Amino acid sequence: MKIGITNDHAAAQLKFSIMKYLEENGYEVINYGTDGTEAFDYPQAAIPLCKALQNKEVDLGIAICGTGVGISISCNKHKGIRACCCSDTASARLTRTHNDANVICFGARIVGEELAKDIVHTFVTTPFSNEDRHIRRVQQITEIENNQL
Ligand code: RB5
Repeated sequence: MKIGITNDHAAAQLKFSIMKYLEENGYEVINYGTDGTEAFDYPQAAIPLCKALQNKEVDLGIAICGTGVGISISCNKHKGIRACCCSDTASARLTRTHNDANVICFGARIVGEELAKDIVHTFVTTPFSNEDRHIRRVQQITEIENNQL
């Protein structure tokens, strides 16, 4: 599985820890974020990751900023992106099984490194449930996005 990761200036250090963790566990990781601490606007950080997902260059995405909120809002403005901002593993699991989320977001100023790794592990190892009611609801999200609802 190929995973894209991106971040703003608040999250470079956590991004590197997550990349190392994923690579040690056999995932291919593509880095779309900033590697420094100089101000880097989170909407800009979201763009290349979302484009890579839309072009199917990566299977899932991870987006990190200070809170996880700004970058999740930004990701969710891109067509076909379902980004979940969360600080717990239950949400990371349920957003895959229920929402077929393709981006997980969290805040480098909110979650610690170990919790962040657990969130990422849960997110990348949990499949979509493919249950009818969840397929229907995700389809409705797409219809809203396409101005059909
Ligand atoms: C940057 O200071 C901060 O605003 C950003 O990382 C994020 O928390 C926004 O939601």
